[in-house]
Amino acid sequence: MQSPTNSFDKISPTALMVAHVRQFTDIPYSKEIAQLVNAQAVVEQLLENSSNRPVEVGVYIEGRYKFINKLIAQSQATQIIELASGLQPRGMIMTENPDIIFVESDLPGILTQKQELIQKLIGNRPNYKFIPINVTSVPSQFPLDANYLNTQKPVVITCEGLMMYLTSAEKQLVFKNIREMLEIYGGMWITSDFNSKTEIENIRKISPSLQHFTQIASNITGRNLDDYLFHNFDHVKQFASEQGFDIESYSKVDILNELTCLEPLNIDFEIAKSMLANAFVFVLKLKNSNPQ
Ligand SMILES: C[S@@+](CC[C@H](N)C(=O)[O-])C[C@H]1O[C@@H](n2cnc3c(N)ncnc32)[C@H](O)[C@@H]1O
Repeated sequence: MQSPTNSFDKISPTALMVAHVRQFTDIPYSKEIAQLVNAQAVVEQLLENSSNRPVEVGVYIEGRYKFINKLIAQSQATQIIELASGLQPRGMIMTENPDIIFVESDLPGILTQKQELIQKLIGNRPNYKFIPINVTSVPSQFPLDANYLNTQKPVVITCEGLMMYLTSAEKQLVFKNIREMLEIYGGMWITSDFNSKTEIENIRKISPSLQHFTQIASNITGRNLDDYLFHNFDHVKQFASEQGFDIESYSKVDILNELTCLEPLNIDFEIAKSMLANAFVFVLKLKNSNPQ
């Protein structure tokens, strides 16, 4: 059964929390975006003068963004669809290459706000498309038959910071919608979003302040994120397999030396290293699909 859209709209403000953290990295446009949406003021309000600032989440946010970029580049795909893009600048950077078609999507409210920001920062680009997509929608709102996509070329579908907010039933709908896309175009789904209890428990031992970030996100969204975790990677694998996917996981530790948020956020290198060693990015392909 589908959840009402306004239940998802409560998740959209979390995009501001992420945009706020991203400004402490060297990711292009992050500072401009955070300023334009006044992310600082929103985050101050959410933290309510708390001294327990979950700054170490920066390791995750920068790590997943850069690692996913690496895997997209390795795929050599030229058709990219980003789900739940929030205030993420990936599309603005990737569309500098005119050979890339980048489809940016999120719920309609935040997508309109994002389009206005992009208009201010870079203007229009013919290879940059904006499509409102509720990822759980039935029937699908994905571009199954879009004249700007080529069915002879694979797509990479990507999302970060989305699936952890969804119930198991909602996750199944996302898998179904992505499966339909990959059946038409081929390609893969690259995401950091399958958190498991084992992984999170290890990371909270290393960085207790992360619990605080989860608590804030749960309060804003009215969704208890700890209830939506997978048990462990075997559980993720089994779930993906039941939805028709093979899944591979990659440790984010490989991105450690590219992190730029450690100094501005005053994060210890060894803590960042241990956090990334316990965090993963996943590549999912349809079972029995041709290797690409
Ligand atoms: C934590 S933010 C992450 C945003 C962005 N990916 C980033 O990393 O900065 C979660 C995003 O999920 C989007 N979202 C929530 N429910 C959704 C749904 N059912 N369909 C599409 N997007 C959804 C929100 O609007 C929000 O932009």
